[in-house]
Amino acid sequence: MNRTPFVGGNWKMNTDLESGLALLQSLSDQIGPSSPSSEVVVYPPFPYLMSLHQTMAQTITSVRLGAQDVSDQPNGAFTGEVSTEMLLDCGVRSVLVGHSERRHVIGECDALINAKTRRGLEAGLQVVLCVGETLEQREAGETDTINERQIRAGLQDVSAEAMSEVVIAYEPVWAIGTGRTASPDDAQKAHAHIRAVLSSLYDDRLAGQVRVIYGGSVKSSNAAELFSCPDIDGGLIGGASLKAEEFAKIIRATG
Ligand code: 13P
Repeated sequence: MNRTPFVGGNWKMNTDLESGLALLQSLSDQIGPSSPSSEVVVYPPFPYLMSLHQTMAQTITSVRLGAQDVSDQPNGAFTGEVSTEMLLDCGVRSVLVGHSERRHVIGECDALINAKTRRGLEAGLQVVLCVGETLEQREAGETDTINERQIRAGLQDVSAEAMSEVVIAYEPVWAIGTGRTASPDDAQKAHAHIRAVLSSLYDDRLAGQVRVIYGGSVKSSNAAELFSCPDIDGGLIGGASLKAEEFAKIIRATG
């Protein structure tokens, strides 16, 4: 199955305007004018999206712009929220939904994550739906059960047609920002199970087309081994995406 590799750079609540612009420029310099056979998306903080979009529109074609979150509501009295339309105005093409920090630190539930997923897809955005188990759940042998529950809930009422704009990011919570990465074997097993869940929700053909990417302490030193697993189609990168050279090496590891 020919799936275009996907590499996302989740900047989280890092950078300022100046360093964000410099990071994007330097990333573009590193990877050149057209991205090497993979789709590359960066997810900067909301306030910098417009400036980054303007910079990209002028000079950068190899990287697309994403947002770290989105409201499940179209507009109205939702203080602090950011709508799909606002993101589209800023040149955003992709959104992260259900990132573990939003699930476990901020307390988002599966129903809200599903509503955000559907809202993003309806607006024509690509949605990167993030799933993954905590350390406690892993030690209790619940990895597959948790991933399955989060995927079934996150994709509830998402049609097969809309799935062409969905990427699944498997990010074991215990591997995020800890320096501990899932072994390629463990990650591959989780990804294969995720693909089996997609088959049962849709069909084998569709499951074979959806990108399932891995996140959690990915670095240039472990990326190639992870990305060579048959069901791992790239990565969602946190800390290492803040260094252009390191992130570019990770992008090249998909090739
Ligand atoms: P780290 O790469 O810093 O572990 O973060 C992973 C992540 O959460 C990407 O969304």
